[in-house]
Amino acid sequence: MKTVVAAIALPLLAAAAPAAQASIPPSFGVMAVRSGSPIHYAQMNAAGQKFWLGGSTSSYCPSIDGIVCPPGNQTVFASGGNAMDVEVPGGQQVYVDPTGALSFTQAHSASIPAGSAVGGLIYETGEPWNHYTFSGWGATGFMACPTSDNRWQVFAAMQNATVPSGDVDDCLGFSALALTYNGDVPAWQYI
Ligand SMILES: *[C@@H]1O[C@H](CO)[C@@H](O)[C@H](O)[C@H]1NC(C)=O
Ligand SMILES: *[C@@H]1O[C@H](CO)[C@@H](O)[C@H](O)[C@H]1NC(C)=O
Repeated sequence: MKTVVAAIALPLLAAAAPAAQASIPPSFGVMAVRSGSPIHYAQMNAAGQKFWLGGSTSSYCPSIDGIVCPPGNQTVFASGGNAMDVEVPGGQQVYVDPTGALSFTQAHSASIPAGSAVGGLIYETGEPWNHYTFSGWGATGFMACPTSDNRWQVFAAMQNATVPSGDVDDCLGFSALALTYNGDVPAWQYI
């Protein structure tokens, strides 16, 4: 994979205040930083139990009396980054599947493929930005890999990932800024 070029200037984000130090880290959304690339400033979105840069969030909320459905249009990770910020009972876990793809579990299921990395996602506090990363399997954070339908799928940045194009050199390493989310739980469940 190509190396991340550190981006110093983030004018678009200047208005976002860094998170205060707290004992429980906040929920957060992720924005990719890879200057001079098509994924620069792209939002990370959950869809199809995987993650993508750009596109839109895919979510579901049942029509049941007593449930007030959240908008479900923003992808937000729960405190710590190893689960999604959802209302569905049982929650939804985040893991890295054996191909290296960042993934989340289906609602009402704890099923995770054998050989996945569970619990290895990290929320790192920093100044001025907090970051989301993965350091299992010798990975150095995340990379985005092009798909045949013109999307960018998120993988752990490691040479032996099994990526859509078949060649990790097509992938772009990126820095994953963790932007604090303040608000009601954003989704019932992601799908
Ligand atoms: C999500 O939907 C709400 C309500 O429809 C809307 O106000 C908000 O702008 C949307 N947010 C995003 C990130 O699309
Ligand atoms: C990829 O390489 C890492 C580090 O050597 C190793 O831990 C991991 O099992 C490998 N994954 C696959 C799918 O081969």
